[in-house]
Amino acid sequence: MTSHKGGAGIRPSSSLPPSLVAGARAIVTSQDTSEKVRLAYAVSKAWFQRELGLGSPTRDGSMPDRPGRPDKPVLLAPRDMPKRSLTGKSGRLALIHSLAHIELNAVDLTWDLIGRFAHIRLPRSYYDDWVRVGLEEAKHFSMLQDRLTKLDAAYGDMPAHDGLWEAAQNTGNDLAARLAIIPLVLEARGLDITPPMIEKARGIGDEDTARCLEVIYRDEKNHVAFGAKWFRFLCDRQGIRPEPAFHAFVRKHFRGALKPPFNDRARSEAGLTPGFYKPLARLTG
Ligand SMILES: [Fe+2]
Ligand SMILES: [Fe+2]
Repeated sequence: MTSHKGGAGIRPSSSLPPSLVAGARAIVTSQDTSEKVRLAYAVSKAWFQRELGLGSPTRDGSMPDRPGRPDKPVLLAPRDMPKRSLTGKSGRLALIHSLAHIELNAVDLTWDLIGRFAHIRLPRSYYDDWVRVGLEEAKHFSMLQDRLTKLDAAYGDMPAHDGLWEAAQNTGNDLAARLAIIPLVLEARGLDITPPMIEKARGIGDEDTARCLEVIYRDEKNHVAFGAKWFRFLCDRQGIRPEPAFHAFVRKHFRGALKPPFNDRARSEAGLTPGFYKPLARLTG
């Protein structure tokens, strides 16, 4: 996996990191959101053009404990976040701002996944899948940032919560656990809550936001599918059954129950069948 086949005459530009792992590290470390996005595009392009080798955490440096972030937004614990009404123009801005923050976290989480576990032997197609995800998360963040700009606002105008990175931190030593929590719990949750958000945006006449959310929804189905595929791959390699393994990881690393209602159809299309998540749902009624 570490061999590098640069095509004859192809020379990466000077601002391009020397390997995929170095690129992932540069993206996560950068404090500048536009630099994160620029690098995500440049590194993905070079990877898919086969101009970059994988590299390794030993050679290219290990991933930071925390991602680089701009001075703003101020990051608060989820319990300290101000309660906001999600109606009216300010409510709409708060919602788009919080979605932009989630996508920025997704950029860092995906590139962290790429760089942090690169010492594990995995097929090239594993990296192809996650580099595509890392590129799409950067696109999602940019799209939402553009929506904020069009509404005379900017990412950083409001406080944001720090819960997503915290959710990732305690799975830093276990790839299967990381896949269980990030794509299969948190991104799968996105599949449940995005269709009602699209309807709501359309209901208030915000067609641009609705279209933006539709792109995100379509892409996120693939992200969950990649999570399910590689989680099953790792379980298979270890000779363990995926569903009980998933239940054990979630009980260990995720606080609380999974919240219904679930988008069973989208989850199943992504390979996340009910046997994974239904036993972990809060019993209601
Ligand atoms: Fe996303
Ligand atoms: Fe995603």
